[in-house]
Amino acid sequence: MTKEEFQNLAKREIEEAKKEVSQVVDESSLNAFKGKYLGKKSHLTSYYALMKEVAPAEKKEFGMELNNLRSALSELLSAKQKELADKALAEKLEKEKVDITRPGYHATLGSKHPFYAVIDDVTDFFLGLGYTVADGPEVETDENNFELMNIPKDHPARDMQDSFSLGDNLVLRSHTSAVQARVMKAAKGVGPIKVICPGKVYRRDNDATHSPEFGQIEGLVISEDATFSNLLETLTLLLRHLFGEKREVRFRPSFFPFTEPSVEADISCFECNGKGCALCKHTGWIEILGSGMVHPNVLRLNGFDDKKYRGYAFGIGIDRVAMLKYGIDDIKRLYTDDVAFVEQFRKE
Ligand code: PHE
Repeated sequence: MTKEEFQNLAKREIEEAKKEVSQVVDESSLNAFKGKYLGKKSHLTSYYALMKEVAPAEKKEFGMELNNLRSALSELLSAKQKELADKALAEKLEKEKVDITRPGYHATLGSKHPFYAVIDDVTDFFLGLGYTVADGPEVETDENNFELMNIPKDHPARDMQDSFSLGDNLVLRSHTSAVQARVMKAAKGVGPIKVICPGKVYRRDNDATHSPEFGQIEGLVISEDATFSNLLETLTLLLRHLFGEKREVRFRPSFFPFTEPSVEADISCFECNGKGCALCKHTGWIEILGSGMVHPNVLRLNGFDDKKYRGYAFGIGIDRVAMLKYGIDDIKRLYTDDVAFVEQFRKE
């Protein structure tokens, strides 16, 4: 073959390839093109085989022509490859286009439910005094809820807390004092103990200030030197923390089977400042919690030596505090799934 003959062949090959490459639309037709013009069975490969027959003097030039052909075909291939890649990218961009002028989603800030706001506030206060947080189940044994709290079966004191019985000596706990029994038994007679226990409790009660489901925060301190005045001081600090430094705190003698002596704590009414109004039922005082020195029977029943240890306990009504602090008129508001209600308490 002469050089001219080969040049003509090459020209035709390129023209044909150009025509064919214009038909390439996707990866598989691209691969077919590549195989046909640059692959093992291509004309190009067979031309390289012809080199053997070319006279030595012409080998160099013939080789250059061959290389030109190969580069021309490779260029067609790579131009097409780039074209297809650009097209794919453009399609992808089009498909994934984001309309940045659309209004965004407005993420509203959540707000803490007043019930949990009170728990967190009271918990923080007691953590600061070195208490830890204890926990117990809402389905409780009759023993923990009553007997170990010095309320034997058939004792009239059970009427104070009309509980929901679940049979098999189980009740929905009627007070967080049940956790006292758990904590004391776990301590196996060795003090000191200094815990609070926030949680849900249940009683057969239902009106504007009573819900069958409500919350309490129990406190229990047992040590060799716990005193009644420690108790009164702790509760005074707590109530001023919750309701303001100016609140007067008053303790009234009371009765609980598990404490002796027992007191209830009142604060001066913050609505009328003690003059008397509807909120304080014209007494000038609002009742907040029950407390007292742990009854020696309770210490003994739960494995503590009542000669060595003394203790005090208190039970704060979470709902009462929440209603007073946040001006909520019906306790049921705390137990509905009304978002608008909770949103009122959002801190901006
Ligand atoms: N358990 C009592 C109640 O629910 C409150 C209380 C707790 C009183 C601890 C004294 C000591 O009414």
